[in-house]
Amino acid sequence: MKVLVLNGPNLGRLDIRDSAIYGDMTYASLVAHIEGAAKTHGFEADIRQSNDEAEIIGWLHEAADTRTPVIINPAAFTHYSYAIRDAAELVKAPLIEVHLSNPLSREEFRHTSVISGVANGTIAGFGPNSYVLALIALKALIS
Ligand code: DQA
Repeated sequence: MKVLVLNGPNLGRLDIRDSAIYGDMTYASLVAHIEGAAKTHGFEADIRQSNDEAEIIGWLHEAADTRTPVIINPAAFTHYSYAIRDAAELVKAPLIEVHLSNPLSREEFRHTSVISGVANGTIAGFGPNSYVLALIALKALIS
């Protein structure tokens, strides 16, 4: 089973983001972690990252057209992109929102997610394992 794993802005530069919040992982090692877990749980993960809202919207349209399940970390777009929310709503296969950190324990502007209302669920605060937990939840949802 295919899963599209979408990562939003600045996640490609985990190497220089605050390690107290995001840990020591590089984006390449995050990708390897997700790929390994995907294989373990019987998924073929197509993992992408973009800093561009339009590109992420295009990928969500692709998931809608191909009925592919999605795991998405919209990064800062989580908090204000109605365009990504509307595109996420078009995906009829399960869509799970993930975050490395726990936005609810951080600055107030991160307490709002405009995506959660159109996601099957949200997993946040477990570092790279947020994605692993999302894969397990996805497997349960589609079996
Ligand atoms: C994040 C949390 C967001 O608030 C932030 O803008 C990010 C990463 C996370 O994975 O913890 O870029 O989505």
